[in-house]
Amino acid sequence: MSNACTVRDLVDRDLLMVLTWRNHPSVRSFMLTQHEISLKEHLNWFERVKHDKNRKQLIVFDGEEPIGFVQFNSVSRGGIADWGFYARPDVPKGSGTKLGNAALKHAFEALGLHKVCGQAIESNAASIAFHQKLGFIEEGRLRSQQKINGQYQTSVCFGLLANDWQETKQTEKEKNVPN
Ligand SMILES: CC(C)(COP(=O)(O)OP(=O)(O)OC[C@H]1O[C@@H](n2cnc3c(N)ncnc32)[C@H](O)[C@@H]1OP(=O)(O)O)[C@@H](O)C(=O)NCCC(=O)NCCS
Repeated sequence: MSNACTVRDLVDRDLLMVLTWRNHPSVRSFMLTQHEISLKEHLNWFERVKHDKNRKQLIVFDGEEPIGFVQFNSVSRGGIADWGFYARPDVPKGSGTKLGNAALKHAFEALGLHKVCGQAIESNAASIAFHQKLGFIEEGRLRSQQKINGQYQTSVCFGLLANDWQETKQTEKEKNVPN
């Protein structure tokens, strides 16, 4: 599959834009912490994480358009990282898939990860469909694991191996070869 999307590191000038996305009800309502994040809290978060070599914060672009934010935690070459992400709230359908593909290409090629893990709350149908579409395998459910707004929620755990990713990309490439 061709992917016209690019990724780059999050930088200070992106912070206000990303805070607007993060605080939008369509994003916030699926996050583990759902309060409205203040600018001060957001700036403090970035000040803390940007110096951490094991964490990566990225903005994904479709052409010139920023379409979302992705972060990888516990990053090390050949290692296993967790990811978190959100698309810009007003993006057209299909943008999530573009965002995911671009971020995973970066994860497996530039960062050299062995595996990417994701967790979605059981009620987050979009995130579950998104992980499945990208080739993640469901590896288990953590029952009543996350307390959100006073209610325990079950988490669905997903994993994607670098090998699976390469195979999927190879198959897509072969399918796209004209007869
Ligand atoms: C998760 C997210 C990135 C997906 O983005 P998106 O733009 O909906 O993704 P796409 O349009 O590419 O859709 C990907 C697949 O999910 C499906 N999907 C999207 N929204 C869905 C929903 N509400 N219910 C069921 N399936 C859904 C799409 O149909 C598509 O599958 P298909 O191509 O087979 O039809 C986006 O919804 C988002 O940012 N959500 C808020 C933040 C969030 O939940 N982050 C993850 C926390 S774990």
